Amino acid sequence: MSVEATAPGKAILFGEHSVVYRGPAIVIAIDRRAKITAKERDDERIRFDCLDLGFEGYFEGDEYHPVAGEEWRGNRLQAMLVAARKTMEHIDKTSGLDLTVRSDIPIAAGLGSSAAICVATVAATGELLDGNLSQQEICDLAYEGEKMVHGTPSGVDNNISTYGGVLSYETGVGIEKIDFQGGLPLVIGNSKRKRSTRRLVARVRALRDRNPELVDGLIDSMGEVSRKGLEAIKARDYPMIGDLMNINHGLLSSVGVSISRLDILVHAARGAGAYGAKLTGAGGGGCMIAITDPDKLRDVSRAISRSRGEPHIVNISYEGVETRRLG
Ligand code: PMV
Repeated sequence: MSVEATAPGKAILFGEHSVVYRGPAIVIAIDRRAKITAKERDDERIRFDCLDLGFEGYFEGDEYHPVAGEEWRGNRLQAMLVAARKTMEHIDKTSGLDLTVRSDIPIAAGLGSSAAICVATVAATGELLDGNLSQQEICDLAYEGEKMVHGTPSGVDNNISTYGGVLSYETGVGIEKIDFQGGLPLVIGNSKRKRSTRRLVARVRALRDRNPELVDGLIDSMGEVSRKGLEAIKARDYPMIGDLMNINHGLLSSVGVSISRLDILVHAARGAGAYGAKLTGAGGGGCMIAITDPDKLRDVSRAISRSRGEPHIVNISYEGVETRRLG
């Protein structure tokens, strides 16, 4: 018997970086998914097939044995390994596993690929071993894996990937599910530059340490943009969402997290008629996002391609984690 679980990636519409300090971040699940297929093994090994990414290998205890690809690739699997082991521990069962990883979420681009993979790993392992996990248990166990990669992440990625839809997240307040249905005309542009969230968060913190009053003012403004952004989303006021994205991009540039590749894509989208555009996620590379009239989705997409970005016309995914038995 094998089990397949899928979980969506995410995009931050408003509030990246400021959320680290105060104020909300507004996040959507996107229709790009990670898929894990899980099967029991007769031995104790936990084997990962990531052949889409060019590697495959297994863990025997904590030791990684490559089958295809380099040994260092094993480091990339730590989050999934922890997610699978914590799940087995939680349901008090143990087994060797074959885990096949497939995903159409770009990696290290701020689109929640690692959280989606962790959520799907927990769900697949839990279902395979009859763990009967609730969505909240899946979310919490996936967070254990996420901690391996990100230190102490806010928890927004595993939540959005588990539940789907639209959420607001505020440090110290937690997650609020937003009652919103239907789509938003959004285009994501991937700069194809990998970056580290941890390093960019540290850079903003250092700037704030050197200029506390100024940077706190910018953080407060970003929080205000985020609150207004949520109202504009609920009202489906695309031009207002666009204005707020433009202001948000300026504020994020002010704290030093944009790069010229992202600015070029943001301006290309605006030039093609988008209502507004901003970087999304930690910046320093990764992705930007634009809101446009539905009639202009293709134009904006083409403008991003012409500027050497990788465009994705995305929809909000209301399907969070999903699991099915393959027989
Ligand atoms: O990892 P990313 O690109 O989705 O960015 C995370 C958002 C930050 O606000 C920069 C960090 C955080 O933990 O909230």
